[in-house]
Amino acid sequence: MPDDVVEVVHDLRAPLSVASGYLSMLMDGTFGPAPGQWCAPLEVLGTKLEEARLLIDEILVLRRMDCAPVARSGNDQVNLTEAARTAAARAQPRARLLQGSVVVDTGRVHSAIAKGDQRRTLRILDNLINNALVYSGTTRRVVVRVEQEDGPQVAVEDSGSGISEECRAQLFEPFVRDEGSAEVGSGLGLFISRTLARQMGGDLTFHRRRGHSGSRFVLHLPSAQGPRLPDARSA
Ligand SMILES: Nc1ncnc2c1ncn2[C@@H]1O[C@H](COP(=O)(O)OP(=O)(O)O)[C@@H](O)[C@H]1O
Ligand SMILES: [Mg+2]
Repeated sequence: MPDDVVEVVHDLRAPLSVASGYLSMLMDGTFGPAPGQWCAPLEVLGTKLEEARLLIDEILVLRRMDCAPVARSGNDQVNLTEAARTAAARAQPRARLLQGSVVVDTGRVHSAIAKGDQRRTLRILDNLINNALVYSGTTRRVVVRVEQEDGPQVAVEDSGSGISEECRAQLFEPFVRDEGSAEVGSGLGLFISRTLARQMGGDLTFHRRRGHSGSRFVLHLPSAQGPRLPDARSA
């Protein structure tokens, strides 16, 4: 990617953050109480600004992957139950706007501690949840499952119409998007997510849901050895 393009993308962050700042001031009443009928449009503005921020972010992350030596995570641990709950909580405004839902199901798993880091894990889960919300047609019901199989893992499932066979073959390649994906997107999210998963010694895989329409993406991470982190529920 040419350096001047990266620079322009980078510089877009400044006006965007000013716009976001004014938006929060409008929402928190700094300029006086906002009329009730402004709530929905302000929420839409917030979501659209967030989408633009994510796109910029993806391009910059990609650039960093291009030129920086791969920063492997060290001996860090991540509590997957906690990460799943955090990611689901921050997806709620978007889910509300799209009239969808995001719920966490930890099943019988009390604590899933993996090797990896929180920042990468959350970035991956944000991407997967966002995809599940925007590409799952009108159902938009997303379940984030914390599981223990060969190791700790988090699955993000939706009840949409799934992904076409052609797209499935190259799903994790950069700039690949399914035909007919009307939503704004760069086609970088899954590529970045898998790269981050592999940097942590794990992987990101796609599965068709058995007996359902819809998609299931699974983030696999190596199990952590050594002292366990406190479980989110007992913290
Ligand atoms: N949960 C999903 N359901 C249906 N299609 C999906 C889902 N997740 C990803 N896709 C398809 O894979 C493509 C690539 O996703 P991604 O790499 O996140 O890029 P982007 O979201 O920017 O298009 C999307 O454009 C979409 O066509
Ligand atoms: Mg995406």
